[in-house]
Amino acid sequence: MERRLQDKTIVVVGAGTRVEGMGNGKATAIQFAREGAHVLCVDSVESAAQSTVNSVRQEGGAAFPFAADVTSEQDCERAVTECMVRFGRLDVLHNNAGVAFGGDIQTATEDDWKRTFDVIVKGMYLMCKHAIPRMIEGGGGVIINVSSISSIRPNPSVNYTASKGAVNSLTLFLASRYGRYNIRANALLLGFVDTPLVKPLYGEGKLREAVLQRIPLGRFASPWEGAAVAAFLASDEASYITGVLLPVDGGLSAA
Ligand SMILES: NC(=O)c1ccc[n+]([C@@H]2O[C@H](COP(=O)([O-])OP(=O)(O)OC[C@H]3O[C@@H](n4cnc5c(N)ncnc54)[C@H](O)[C@@H]3O)[C@@H](O)[C@H]2O)c1
Repeated sequence: MERRLQDKTIVVVGAGTRVEGMGNGKATAIQFAREGAHVLCVDSVESAAQSTVNSVRQEGGAAFPFAADVTSEQDCERAVTECMVRFGRLDVLHNNAGVAFGGDIQTATEDDWKRTFDVIVKGMYLMCKHAIPRMIEGGGGVIINVSSISSIRPNPSVNYTASKGAVNSLTLFLASRYGRYNIRANALLLGFVDTPLVKPLYGEGKLREAVLQRIPLGRFASPWEGAAVAAFLASDEASYITGVLLPVDGGLSAA
């Protein structure tokens, strides 16, 4: 049976997870490879990218690690060049790199704001800047930006919330500006996902219980649930879907 992403070439940015466990980018890179894609696993932590690649290869998939910090334009350009040299084309860009810290207006620092926007917003912009010309040359492409339900249902961090709002706007811009080049751009508004990033905050205790009360499905997501949606958006099954800010949140935004 033909797999949905057979021979597509995909760059996953933030393809690792900082500590042991399964993050969103890692699960998504593995899922893309399971569906037949060749995946360049980009992460600022080389060992994290390598760990994802090892998981893919253990299953017989095709993946390669690449160390790059998306806050550096040079690194973003190098990542896109690596994809072109290795695979000859760039079909899908999955922008997942993220950080989560900070507080409200009084407690978050200017540095929290700057570092968050550098990774989440500037990083996405720079990856798009270098990927889009290659996609246009290749006749089109797909961009998936990992946003958060916090972009429309603010969480306690002002810098995180605002940065994900900017991701939504960037996604709408990309969809409206580059649709004519057969480039689709969509955002995943993830809800609470059990990843190593979230565990220190909501791993157990009263806070987790309070959050669970707010989620209609009554549980956190697994990273594989976001990965499955990303694989659909990356595939030709989603060929008429662009400019969508898609909640994958167990109903949180509807409640
Ligand atoms: N876990 C959740 O509940 C949740 C909810 C909503 C949105 N998200 C989003 O999902 C994405 C992934 O989150 P996660 O929970 O899997 O976290 P994670 O920390 O496990 O994975 C993030 C990866 O991004 C990489 N990264 C960070 N800064 C980078 C940089 N400058 N350049 C390149 N790579 C960099 C990290 O090294 C790490 O491997 C983030 O964008 C996050 O905001 C997560």
